[in-house]
Parts: sequence; structure tokens; C-alpha cells
Amino acid sequence: MTSHANETMRLGCCYYPEHWPEAMWADDARRMAAMGLSRVRIGEFAWSRIEPEPGRYDWGWLDRAVETLHGAGLGIIMGTPTATPPKWLVDAMPDMIAIDEAGRPRRFGSRRHYCFSHAGYRAEAARIVQAMAERYGAHPSVVMWQTDNEYGCHDTVMSYSAAALAGFRLWLAERYASIDALNAAWGNVFWSMEYRSFDEIDLPNLTVTEANPAHRLAFRRYCSGQVAVFNAMQVEIIRAAAPGRDITHNFMGFFTEFDHHQVGAQIDLATWDSYPLGFLEQFRFPDADKQAYARQGHPDIAAFHHDLYRGCSAGRWGVMEQQPGPVNWARYNPAPLPGMVRLWTLEAAAHGAELVSYFRWRQAPFAQEQMHAGLLRPDSVDAPAADEVRAAARDLDGLGPLGTPPRSVALLFDYQADWVTGIQPQGAGQSALWHAFDWYSALRSLGLDVDIVPPDAPLDGYAMAVVPCLPIVEETLVERLASFAGPVVIGARSGSKTADLSMPAALPPGALQQLIPLTVTRVSTLRPGMTEPGGEADGASWAIQRWIEDVEGKAEVALATGGGRPVLLRHGHVRYLAAQPDAALLHQLMERVAQEAGLPTLALPPGVRTRRIGRMLFVFNYAAEPRPVPQVAGYRQLSGDALLASAGVAVLVTEADTFA
Ligand code: GAL
Repeated sequence: MTSHANETMRLGCCYYPEHWPEAMWADDARRMAAMGLSRVRIGEFAWSRIEPEPGRYDWGWLDRAVETLHGAGLGIIMGTPTATPPKWLVDAMPDMIAIDEAGRPRRFGSRRHYCFSHAGYRAEAARIVQAMAERYGAHPSVVMWQTDNEYGCHDTVMSYSAAALAGFRLWLAERYASIDALNAAWGNVFWSMEYRSFDEIDLPNLTVTEANPAHRLAFRRYCSGQVAVFNAMQVEIIRAAAPGRDITHNFMGFFTEFDHHQVGAQIDLATWDSYPLGFLEQFRFPDADKQAYARQGHPDIAAFHHDLYRGCSAGRWGVMEQQPGPVNWARYNPAPLPGMVRLWTLEAAAHGAELVSYFRWRQAPFAQEQMHAGLLRPDSVDAPAADEVRAAARDLDGLGPLGTPPRSVALLFDYQADWVTGIQPQGAGQSALWHAFDWYSALRSLGLDVDIVPPDAPLDGYAMAVVPCLPIVEETLVERLASFAGPVVIGARSGSKTADLSMPAALPPGALQQLIPLTVTRVSTLRPGMTEPGGEADGASWAIQRWIEDVEGKAEVALATGGGRPVLLRHGHVRYLAAQPDAALLHQLMERVAQEAGLPTLALPPGVRTRRIGRMLFVFNYAAEPRPVPQVAGYRQLSGDALLASAGVAVLVTEADTFA
């Protein structure tokens, strides 16, 4: 694994030479470099120009674009164009089109209209990737490759096509070996759902009421695997033709439909597409947050994904698309507060990013995204973000290499946990991803640094481990948590399901009973507004919301509701939370456990977040008002005032290089 610790984060942009007259390219490239950019991503939607007709390649324009960008000293990130198969290909192979859950074709006319299971399409994708990799693999300026674009965007991981059906049956036969084993594992005796052969099994859509949850989970696993197979095919081709070049994929925000850890392990660095304002508007944030942070984004959105994707590719990661202004796709699309583009950029650096690349260089005046800002306006005049990019480039140069993010808190998350909670939520809105986000937010509001890691990641070096919601638990994780030196906090529902989504024989938390002697005997879920009053702790009142478990067993009751229901159970270094806590309780709990772990916490004002890296500690003000820079023992402020403006960034430094 190469490390980025001794390098300064690079800036880049997403550029579409095919959208602009060739006469503009040289000036664009010159202006990119002058703005402080050294990377440019191209190519990822250009199939219809690279191969206008079957087998007739037109490399001329792309060769010239590559040379022009190269001439300006830019390193190119070449995207493979497989997210946008051209019309002639779809017409030649109509069954490559994905089918939605309602059985309708997802027709040509936008993008991502292919089915991952279609062998014919996979072969065509391999052909175009091979052709591109052969042509540009050895080019000195093509420094990185991006496979496809945002796997799963527009709800495209699951396709209910004939190809998917055939592939799923084969996959099931391989996984379960005999149909009796499958029937037993899924509990198909329930409602007479038993099959006599794998060929009788359909896809889990269009059933009268919900299909068997085990069937649905199996299909999710299959579909996730197809994304990994498709990606691995591209990676193999690129590795052979472009030795020594980094390979990435640009993942999305708040998206769990395939196993990103699996795809992340195939590539050299995970990148993700950061649109904090669009995400705030589109996802399930309370209205008060949508209002308060409309022009900044919730203070944990970008950081959560930075810390998640850093854990997807063994520490190497970046931002492939950074929002530079209003986007086009959320319900409402405000402009970022002045300063936010610089703040987002520096925040990525503070989490150890290798790259922040803005989407896009120039706003396109045509087609679907004409209302999406770029670094330039459609008339080529600088958009407001341009100056902020220049400022961020100067800041980064001034700071130099930042070093390595510290190991402090490990938050364990896996993708299948979110599939399980999505398939069988029991209470509306239950989601392992959002539990992870809430716990992350509580930790961050205490000034703690978090790594979001897969359950099989090594835990050495961490002071504390939290497991917000992991319904399916491997025995090896139990062993590693048992021998973990620091405190462990496990959230409700963890260990509650077997690999085939049944209840464990000894009841939840299943294998985790080896860590803490308790049994969950009953679960109740509460509608929004319905709470179990808790009590007072540390001067604040707390309550239970959404989810509460009845528990019995020998574990010590560390906290109970006002009515005497156990909420927090403890055994040695392990705590189990038998309920969904509100923000106040989560905050108190994390604070107490951090103290026990020897991790100093900070009393951060609302909207303020911190991040340590190397010898530096960054402070970010997401609030709409100025906030005081926190005093942190052992650190002094490098420059600036004691009051941090809205969208401001302060840098503190310590002399002790504890994390070198
Ligand atoms: C991303 C996508 C880009 C562009 C962008 C607009 O999801 O990768 O191609 O559509 O959103 O914000």
C-alpha cells in the first residue's frame, strides 16, 4: 500500500472536452493549472464520441484533448465510459437494458441503463475498456483510471431482468448446493414457499406481499456481487495495460446498495462524490437542520463519508466530485455560503484525502445538468467557487504535507447491515447506515476522530470501538471484540440475525452473548413523537425513541428509564444499548466511554467540528454565525482570530508529534 502522508493533497476538476469546441481546450487547460489544479478527470461519459459506430473508433479528438491537458502539466484521470452505453449498442442488444422492480425497462435516453448481470453487455464493456486502456495505459500523463461512474446511481444496482434471473439461480445453486438446504435456510415451509429445484426460484419482486426476507437478502447479495464482478473485470484489464497507475471508482453519498468494501478492496483508492447541500436537502435530516445548514451542509455529512471511504481502500481515498455551487438535482438548490468550497476542500485534506476534484470545470448550458454550477460559468467567466479554489490551493501549499490521521475511535459498519435493516425494519425508517451516522455525529460533536471500518478491519491502535448496528455478526468479530483493550459499545439489534436473516437459536444478540450475558426477549418500536422517558444524566434529560428491547440476563444494568426498563447493559469492557437513544443520551454515553478510554473530549459549540491529522488540528465552523475557536490542551493556533467566521477554518498545531 502506498501512503499519501508525505504529499500535499492535489486539486483537480471534472472536464468534458467533448462538450466544448476544440479551440477552447488549450485555454481551459492553462486556466486550470493557473487556478492550482493538477488533476483532470475526463472520458467517463464519452462512449458515443469514442466509438460513434460499432467497431469504428475515433481517437483523434481524445488524443488531442489528452495532449492539450498534458501540455499544461495536468495529470489525467481517465474514466471508462461504461455508464453510458451508446444507442447503437442498446439497439443491437436490447435485453442489456435493466428492468425495474415493477418489471419496466429502464430505457435509453439518460445514463446507467445497463443490467450488471448481462453477459453480452459485460463483454462489450470489457471491449471498450480494453481499447481505451491499450491506447492510453502507457501515456505519461494518464496517472489514474476511474472505473465506470457511480455504480448504482439512479437506483441501478438491482435489475429484475431475465439475465439477472438466470444469474441469480446459478448463484443460489453455488451458495446453497442443494435446494433442501436453501428451503431450510430460508424457512420456506412458512406459507408453503418451498421449491423443488433452483430453476423454480424467481426474483423477489411482484409478489403479493413482501417476499421472504431471506430471498430478498440473497438477491441483494447477488446483485452486489454483480457490481463487484463488473468492476473486477475493468480493474483486471486496466492493471494489465496501465501498470503502475492508480485505479479508483467514484462512490456516492448515503448509498449502501452494494458492498463498497468489496469493490474498495479491488481498487487502489476509493473516491467519492461530495454534494453536501444536495445531500442535506435530499436525505432524512430534520427540517431544523435543513434550515440551519441549507448553505453549508450538515457538519457531519462530508466528514462521515471521508471517514467511511478512508476505510474502504485501506486508507487511500479522495473526493472525485466536489460541489462547487448550486446543484440541479435536489428539491431546492441553494448556493453555498461564501467560504464553504474552501472549507469542504480543507476538511477533506484534514481527513487525509489525496485528491479533491471539483465537479465540474465549466457549467454546461445544455442537457440535463445545465443548472449545475461549475468553477466557470457557461460563458467561461469565473464562477464564485474559482476564487475559493485558488485560496484553498494557497492554504494547502502553505501547510505542506499534513501527515497521517490518528487512530482513535473505530466505528464498525458494514453494507449488509443496512440491507438487513432495510428489508426488515420493524419500525419505519430503521437503518443501520443512519444509526452509524447518528453515532458518528455524537462522537464528532465531542471533538473525537473516528475511523469507519468494516467489521473485519484490524482494531489495534484504537482506544475505543463502537458497533452501532450490526445484525449479522461473524464469530471472528466476537473474538476480536473480546480481546479488544478499550471499551466497546454495541447498539441495539446487533447480533439479532443469522446469515440467512432468521433469529439466532439462543435469541439476540446471538453470538454477542459470548461478550455480554443478556437475551433480548421482545422488541417494541415507537412512532415518531412517542418516547420512553429516560431521566436526567449530566444535567440533561434524555429519552428513548423509535426502538426499545426487553432484556433479561446477568449483565449489570448501567442505565434504566424512569420506569425502570434497562437501557444500557454492561459486562466488563462491553456495553450493550438495548434501545435507540436520543441525541442527548448518545452524547452523554459517548462522552463517558471516551473518558474511560482515555480520549480527551471537547465542548464544541453547535456547528463546530474538529479533525486531527499529523501534528495539526483543524477547526471548521459550519454555523451561520461566528464561533469561538476551541481551546485544546497542548495545541496553539497557527494563525487567525480567536473567533472563527461562518465557513471559517482554523488550524491548531501541537509540538508533540504523537501520530508520526
Ligand atoms: C454525480 C455524477 C455526475 C453528475 C453530478 C451532478 O452523481 O457522478 O456525473 O451527474 O452528480 O451533481
